[in-house]
Amino acid sequence: MTLHDTFRRPLRSLRVSVTDRCNLRCEYCMPQEEYVWLERHALLSFEEIARLTEIFTNLGVDKLRLTGGEPLLRRDLDKLVTLLRRNPGVRDLALTTNGLLLPEQARALRTAGLDRITLSLDTLRPDRFRALTRRDAHARVLEGLAAARAAGFSGMKINAVIVRGFNHDEIADLIEFGREHESEVRFIEYMDVGGATRWSSAQVFCKTEILAALERRYGRITPEGGQGSAPAERFRLADGTRFGVISSTTQPFCGACDRARLTADGVFFLCLYARDGIDLKQILRSGAGPAQIAARIADAWRGRTDRGAEERLQVAQRAPLFQIQDLRSDPHREMHTRGG
Ligand code: GTP
Ligand code: 5AD
Ligand code: SF4
Repeated sequence: MTLHDTFRRPLRSLRVSVTDRCNLRCEYCMPQEEYVWLERHALLSFEEIARLTEIFTNLGVDKLRLTGGEPLLRRDLDKLVTLLRRNPGVRDLALTTNGLLLPEQARALRTAGLDRITLSLDTLRPDRFRALTRRDAHARVLEGLAAARAAGFSGMKINAVIVRGFNHDEIADLIEFGREHESEVRFIEYMDVGGATRWSSAQVFCKTEILAALERRYGRITPEGGQGSAPAERFRLADGTRFGVISSTTQPFCGACDRARLTADGVFFLCLYARDGIDLKQILRSGAGPAQIAARIADAWRGRTDRGAEERLQVAQRAPLFQIQDLRSDPHREMHTRGG
């Protein structure tokens, strides 16, 4: 079955955050050291995640991505992958990770049936990595990438958030790195999402600038087309190297958005920018059956009008979406809670 929202957008993809914790403190996502964390007892168990996922796949979702926080901090994540893999409705099962714990976990994740890994890596310089993430772990990320490839993950993607004055001079270096490691690099515009409390429009290095920088170095760039509902617009260099640009900030793609999100404590969000979500955990734990939960999800999706990133374009003096006190009063507004 396929559910459509008010703009005829289907519900196809679900991003499941499995923890709000992270072992890095990236400037663009978690600039503080301490946060109001979700209570441990509030986290969905693996069985609860699998049950909710099954309701979503029965409603038409076939693409699942595990995120966080840093999802590999959730103990025994491979067991969740095993459970989710038993669901025949899951066509594509992917993971977004910062890679630090991949050396220990890549093999088990592969064996459990994970299809794909996207690695976050914004800089190739260890000193910059330390400044950006406040942890001295660049080498670990590279080991993580190597471990994932050795475990049999091919077609890896590398996500790099480009921040003017920080790493915008590394765009071509990242392309070279991606080529060397047979991974497709995607350049992401710095977004004014929850968590990005130090965001400023001056720091956004936009899609046009990214493409211009690459054109100067490599010559003609050809659009690949066929973006569909994917956030990344794909391009090809003359030598065939492919890369993506995710222009959420300056040229958002809400018109084709088929994504929903589930936080680690079971709150269902219709948009990355939504103020509020629907507490599915409460419904689940109050004894509701699958049909009742499905009806709640379907109602919400049918009424969906969200175009969060597009609406941000209308804001005249664009500033961070939330201030730190707003985030403290409801941690569900954080990107690390609703899934990066
Ligand atoms: P695949 O196409 O399945 O490989 O994944 P993806 O392209 O959806 O990308 P991924 O999960 O790696 O997300 C990359 C980045 O795109 C995120 O870190 C966000 O910056 C941005 N992004 C992902 N989902 C959304 C969304 O729903 N809305 C907006 N505005 N941006 C998003
Ligand atoms: N802007 C763009 N992307 C972000 N992410 C987190 N915060 C931001 C932001 N402010 C995305 C990045 C990162 C992933 C975990 O979440 O892609 O790699
Ligand atoms: Fe989808 Fe909201 Fe992101 Fe737009 S901002 S692409 S509607 S999640």
